[in-house]
Amino acid sequence: MISQKSVQDILETVRVEDIVGEFVNLKKRGVNLIGLCPFHAEKTPSFNVSPTRNIYKCFGCGKGGDSVNFLIEHESLSFYEALKYIAAKYNIEVEETQLSPELINENLEKDSLYIINQFADNYFSTQLFETDLGKSVGLGYFKQRGFREDTIKKFNLGYATAERDDLTREAVTKGYNIELLRKIGLTTQSDNDFFRSRVVFPIHNLTGKIAAFAGRILSTETQGPKYLNSPESDIYQKSKILYGLFFAKTAIRKEDECMLVEGYTDVISLHQGGVENVVASSGTSLTPEQIRLIKRYTNNILILYDGDAAGIKATLRGIELIIEQDCNVKIVLLPDKHDPDSFFKELGHTAFLDYISQNKKDFLIFRLSLAAKEIGDDPVKKTAFVREIIQTLAKIPDTIKRSVYVKECALQLKIDERVIINETNKLITQHITKNRQENREKQKESYDTVANQGTDHSFTEQRNSILNHDLQEKDVIRVLIKFGHLPFSEETDLTIAQFITKNLSDVIDDFDNKNYQKILQDAIECIHLGKLLDTTYYLNHPDPVFKDMAIEVLSTQYAYSENWKKELQTQKKPDENQKNDAIQSVRLLKYRKITRMCKENQDKLSNLVDEKEISTLLHVQQTLQQLRAQLAKELDIVVYN
Ligand code: GTP
Ligand code: MN
Repeated sequence: MISQKSVQDILETVRVEDIVGEFVNLKKRGVNLIGLCPFHAEKTPSFNVSPTRNIYKCFGCGKGGDSVNFLIEHESLSFYEALKYIAAKYNIEVEETQLSPELINENLEKDSLYIINQFADNYFSTQLFETDLGKSVGLGYFKQRGFREDTIKKFNLGYATAERDDLTREAVTKGYNIELLRKIGLTTQSDNDFFRSRVVFPIHNLTGKIAAFAGRILSTETQGPKYLNSPESDIYQKSKILYGLFFAKTAIRKEDECMLVEGYTDVISLHQGGVENVVASSGTSLTPEQIRLIKRYTNNILILYDGDAAGIKATLRGIELIIEQDCNVKIVLLPDKHDPDSFFKELGHTAFLDYISQNKKDFLIFRLSLAAKEIGDDPVKKTAFVREIIQTLAKIPDTIKRSVYVKECALQLKIDERVIINETNKLITQHITKNRQENREKQKESYDTVANQGTDHSFTEQRNSILNHDLQEKDVIRVLIKFGHLPFSEETDLTIAQFITKNLSDVIDDFDNKNYQKILQDAIECIHLGKLLDTTYYLNHPDPVFKDMAIEVLSTQYAYSENWKKELQTQKKPDENQKNDAIQSVRLLKYRKITRMCKENQDKLSNLVDEKEISTLLHVQQTLQQLRAQLAKELDIVVYN
């Protein structure tokens, strides 16, 4: 990680107007600068940059923060990458320290894999542009498909020759490690090149690094599947990447819509024609991770598929997921025998977009009408379908939206609306009750998990802590807002938000700060409803308390309690380790709450005379003290009773 000193240097040097100014055209207005917000579409500028406060804020969409947040949001950099970016811009020397040896190795290896992919990409490009065969076969192919040279370069397209091991040999000569070449899948186990006689499409990750390649067969000259993909590796997990997202993210945010197509060539072709908010799922159905990726930029997904049944079925698999995550999904069916690429070429930019806007249908309604046609008047089929669709309806978090669908469902299937409402409500109640029960059971369970996460942190007890817990409550809310949507750990399905709410639901009534209490309560409800709690949710919350808190949390890098400051010197920054951050903040808050309960109980005890009452409270005291001791042990606090 970056040393405290360097972080300090970077944060003290950076000027928000420099960073934002690289991406947004800013004009002076009084002491501030204003411009068109890059996070939402607008015609009159409401995006404010304050050089004195060193932050930005959009009065239209509510997004705000500092330079680091801007880079994280706008460029999808990680916290670490954002700091490095700033450091590079201002020529600040970055001191890196305190990574564990394993982490260093892991990072080094990942870096090496990216470097190898970059080498391969250069190699494939050279083959394409600078060899006779590449020019005639590879470039010829792309040109014949209508790809311009600037497009080919933008997407780093390349060509792999038919030779057995040209790439591998050149890589080894240049000193690349053969083990890593195999690991990343460019070289086969028998040391041949993996991609041969194919045009090559690099697959970029969110930050623009090449995570993998896809190679397309050119003609019958090669045997095998039409597309060949790099195998999965430490830097490439198919389910977590969307082809084209790196190039599309800005446009997706601007248009507030993400078009989803099937193929690599569809993405490229549309981009070339000026429609840039397009990504591809690369022939598979959408995964939850991919939906989450899209949700960083927009809630609106438009599926563009050819009219064949297989394509629709494939997207259907993802639909429940999309609905649970509260996205708006529309679909456009393309005319027979067209894919987005061919259709776009036929119609051109304007007619294509017109066709889309005239033909897009709400996906659920589309699905209903398809089903209704298929079912006809068959009562058995109808019952089965209604049962199925109700499952989906029950998962729609937005009540207004749900009632629209219920109406449509009743209409299309010719069923009494009240029946559907009743059945759906039954399911929703079941979900909630089940969730509550699970919460209660898991509360103990996950608390045990916390207890088992041995810790070597050391805290000193704060004398005044029993009086007010504002700081600790805030710290928990900080973690919730910043990391709530992230997975708590790889082994469970738990998110950070779920972990926090589950562990704190028993002390929520004891919160000192009513705003923090409100935010936590809201999180509990959202989780019951299956809503995704991410920073966008908080930043766009209608209640200003939520929004302000989010901006504060996101714009202050080091709003940690005293304890955390000490922690930071010996530990990974919490931002890089949200699980520990969550565990620690929850533990510390619970510890404070229980300490206070102990103290209050003790006070009560000393005023009592009735022996029975004393005995009851003594029992309570014992339980509280045990709990407190347990927590103290986990926190490595010395307790003076
Ligand atoms: P063109 O035929 O060049 O227009 O390619 P396309 O990308 O439009 O291909 P197609 O419509 O046949 O397939 C859509 C997507 O499915 C492709 O972009 C690939 O991601 C995926 N796909 C198709 N065929 C294969 C295959 O044989 N193997 C794998 N792994 N993926 C494939
Ligand atoms: Mn195609």
